[in-house]
This record gives sequence, C-alpha cells and structure tokens, in this order.
Amino acid sequence: MDIREAAQTLLRANRRRTRDGHQYTVPSPSTYPYQWLWDSCFHAIILAKFDPDAAKAELFSLLSRQLKDGLIPHMIFWKPKLSRPYNVWWDKGGVSSITQPPMLAYAAWEIYEQTKDRAFLKEIFPQMLAFYTYLVEKRDPHDHHLISIVNPDESGEDNSPRFDTALRVKSNISFLSHMLKRHQLVTANRTCSFDPLVCMHERFWVKDVPFNAMMVKNLEILAKIARVLGDAEAEQFATLNHDLIKFTMREYLMAEGVFWSAIGLEHGHLKVSTWAHFIPLFAGLYTPEEAKAVVDEHFHNTETFRSSYGIRTVSKQEASYRRDGFWRGPIWFAPHWFIYKGLKDYGFEAEATWLSKATIELVERHGFREYFDPETGKAYGAHNFTWGTLVLDMMEDV
Ligand code: GLC
Repeated sequence: MDIREAAQTLLRANRRRTRDGHQYTVPSPSTYPYQWLWDSCFHAIILAKFDPDAAKAELFSLLSRQLKDGLIPHMIFWKPKLSRPYNVWWDKGGVSSITQPPMLAYAAWEIYEQTKDRAFLKEIFPQMLAFYTYLVEKRDPHDHHLISIVNPDESGEDNSPRFDTALRVKSNISFLSHMLKRHQLVTANRTCSFDPLVCMHERFWVKDVPFNAMMVKNLEILAKIARVLGDAEAEQFATLNHDLIKFTMREYLMAEGVFWSAIGLEHGHLKVSTWAHFIPLFAGLYTPEEAKAVVDEHFHNTETFRSSYGIRTVSKQEASYRRDGFWRGPIWFAPHWFIYKGLKDYGFEAEATWLSKATIELVERHGFREYFDPETGKAYGAHNFTWGTLVLDMMEDV
C-alpha cells in the first residue's frame, strides 16, 4: 500500500461541495457525514502538503458559520434535515451550539508554511482572532487563565472517563447511556441559550488539559501570525494569554509530574490517567527533565499506556478502561499525532520513530479506520475515516 497515495485519495473522496460554493471534507462518509471543527483542522494540516487550495477552502467553510460571539461550532451540518443523534445538536441554524479543540491557528500556519501566502493569513486573521478572543473572554469569565469546556464533546473525546465526575456518571457506564447523558446536557443548556457562564456554574465545568494545551500551542502560533501581519496589538494579546495559560497550567494542573484536568471554580483535579499526560509535550509545558520522566514512567509503561499497537488513550490501570470503549482506552490516530509531535520537539527520536511505525502499521493492516483495540490491534468504528491521513505528518520524508 502506498500510504501517501491512499491518504490523498481518501481526502479527495471525502470532499464535499456546498450549495453556496464552500468545500469541506467529511471525516467518514457513512458515520460522520458533516463537517467537524478539529477534523477540518487536521484535514487542512495534511491537505496543505499537496493541495493548499483545498486546505484553505476547508478553513474558510468553517469560518463561514462562525457565530456572532466568535464561537466556531463543532459541527456544521450543511443539510436542512437531520436524523438522530445529530438533530440533538441542531440549535443555531444548521450548526451545533458548542465548540471543539482550537487547532485553527496551527492549521492556518501549516498552510502559510507551504505557500507563504500572506494574503491568505490576512484574510483569515480577523475571524481567527475572534475565535481565540471568545475562548479567552467567555470560557474564562473569572480570569483563572484556564479555558473551560461546557460539554465533554467539546474536548473531541466524547466519552473520555476524564469527564465522569463532572458528568456525574459511573466508570462502568455504557456507551449509549453516556451519549444520552451528554444529550441531556445539551437540552439543559438550551434553556439558558448556551450562555457559558450559566452552563459552567450550573451543569458542567471542566478545565481540560488537552484543550488548554492546544490553546497554548495555538496562541504561540497566533502570535507568530500576528507578527507576520504586523499586528502588534493582536501579537500582544496572543503572547500574554499564551504565557498566562501556560503558567497557570503548571501552577494549578500539575501534580505527581503530570497534568490533570480540573473541575469547577476551585479547579479540583480529576484524577483519571489518560493520554492527557502526554499532550503537554506538544505545547512545550514540561521542562526537559520532566518530559524525560513522563516518557520513562508513562510512555514506556506497558502496564499503563504502551501496547504493542500504540499508545492507549486511557491507562490500563483505570477502572474505566475498556479496550473497545471508544475514548475509554482504544488507540486513536489524532492522539498519536499530538504525542509524536511532542516527542519530536523534545528530541525523543527513538520513541517518535516507534510511534510513527506503529501508526503506519495500523493503516497498512486495516486501512483508514477510526480506533483500535490496544490489546489485539483490532479495528473499530468508522470506515474511510480521515484521521489516519495524519500519518503523512508523522513520516520523515513526506
Ligand atoms: C467522534 C470523535 C470526535 C470527532 C467526530 C468526527 O465524535 O470523538 O472527536 O470530531 O467523531 O470525526
């Protein structure tokens, strides 16, 4: 199998055009037939390498449905009628009412790196800035310098056990009951028009490690973009908030050498061991010594995270661990990509190569599937799922 060829073919096959001239990529034609926010950022990162115009179109279509307050919806339906479970999210005229991890600046920068197209950055910048400003202002109303999510789905890890306490569910909850709980949360938040302040205080309030780590990395990049555009004020906004969130994450979310997501006003730690211990590598949050300890104690630990097929999303030691449980243990491509990037940044070459090889093997063995059993390597979930194309960004010579 020529992975480069197969990845490009998949992204082309999953491309859709809208009536009003936009273009986007569906994560999986049968399982996920709409547009998703962080998925589109992943698509743009890969498309930037071989079809930068399609990468730009992917981001423009996202921004075309940005809400007035700056929120970019986690789903854009591009269709008038929806079936369950998607109709649950329908609230703001064809889009969902919540957001997803803020990988937009990263994706825009990848496009700029490939094209040096400053005009593209200039065009996209005001809306991009509005999104990050929304997150800083509305999702951190008490100036804690940690960004909050109001629904587990905003993390992109829908049923991760990191959210069990905040969602008030048991660790052995079934996939469907969990989904129902999240839908009840949407219904409840509809009564207060999704005002983040009310949603947080009354229902669900998590300062999640991956979301905040991605925020740190993306604010660093937003500052770089502002510098290219000569926008000193925006550069200052991005740098200041980058520094504040980075400092606060270290100050309030770190314990026992790793980062923990936190709940509510007092940011009490949610002590569930997940791959959230690794994503701070992607954002440069660990010192080199701390990073080495994390790699030695967690990345290499076969009793917790490391399996023959890749890195588990949840430690095998957790009561909530399920080898086939969606985000409750299985291997996923996006976490692999984030961890790979972090390992490379810190100079863990051997570990990065191992992870890259493991990822390539999963694609070669199963094609583009959604998630994998860490104990057997068995593939689950969506077919023709685009996240496997991230492997092109995990190979030295692409
Ligand atoms: C699943 C994933 C989510 C992703 C979506 C579309 O819900 O958990 O992260 O955005 O599918 O691929």
